[in-house]
Amino acid sequence: MRPGPLPVIRGLALAPLWFCQIATSAKSFRDNPILGSSILNAWGLHVSRRRLADAMARLRRAKLAEQIAPQERARFDQLGYFLRHDALDSEHFAALRREIRSARLPAREMRQGRTVTRRMGLDDQWLVRMPATRQVAKDPALRALVHYAASYSGEPTFAVQSILVGAFGGDEDPQTVLHSDTFHPTAKAWLFLDDVGADDGPFAYVPGSNQLTPQRLAWERGQSLTAARSADRMHSEGSFRATEADLVELGLPPPVSMTVPANTLIVADTSGFHRRTPSPNRSCRVELYATLRRSPFSPWTGGHSASLPPFAGRFNGLEMAFQEMLERTGVALGPWRPVGKTGAYESAKI
Ligand SMILES: [Fe+2]
Repeated sequence: MRPGPLPVIRGLALAPLWFCQIATSAKSFRDNPILGSSILNAWGLHVSRRRLADAMARLRRAKLAEQIAPQERARFDQLGYFLRHDALDSEHFAALRREIRSARLPAREMRQGRTVTRRMGLDDQWLVRMPATRQVAKDPALRALVHYAASYSGEPTFAVQSILVGAFGGDEDPQTVLHSDTFHPTAKAWLFLDDVGADDGPFAYVPGSNQLTPQRLAWERGQSLTAARSADRMHSEGSFRATEADLVELGLPPPVSMTVPANTLIVADTSGFHRRTPSPNRSCRVELYATLRRSPFSPWTGGHSASLPPFAGRFNGLEMAFQEMLERTGVALGPWRPVGKTGAYESAKI
């Protein structure tokens, strides 16, 4: 069937935007017909973006490398994550835990199947009342790990995050499926407030899946030919899902489930394959969480708008206000719902 005139007019109007997005972090195969074109991807569009992003990340990481101990850096390059037990001294960790347990902060929640993720953004106005938490968020050594994993310097976004798994309900949680967040390095960090057991939905990561090997490049090319038409929405939006058979094809080991004691810090490049291990029971995992994702193609590490006024120290609040404005005006409805001030260990509100 031939498309009617409206889709054609819309396509012509949006074509310049879709074209410009090639040079950005845009990743959706289903929303951008240029990025999703099986013809262009057969000619190498996706793998070219992947290769260029990888080359630029290597360049930037070389500039950030001296901030990390060589042994720790080599391990990250090999595995795709940093892991530190006893990340804080015991006194500092106890103070951090007290602060987070007693804090009531503005929160947003997102439901995915049985799982609700709650985030309480840690802007400077809240950190000023939480000195032990502030000390972690401003710690140059911790930031160096996040920077190296993201392959960028700049201002990570910090939050208290709770992963609340209910007993019943809903569809499958898409975070429990092995996936890569996007086609270029991006950092996520978790400092766990409590022990994380096998039934507490531990983070899992496929060691070595951060590396752009020839096998991975060939796999990425194969995915890019059909991703726009995938029935899995997140796969079609550029967060490629991987099966156990894919791992075998790629010569990768099974994921490692990070069952870890409290006060463990993990900083991962989540362009590697990872997931939240499914939790069979009700569970509550609370962590100090940080993330940093920037443009894939810049050769420079600096110049991050979130570290400049008016964003510095206020990013969470501004982002929440922007999202609410988009929803009020009917432009876009995001998955996150504001739930007012709440505590990290309270039950889900949505
Ligand atoms: Fe992810």
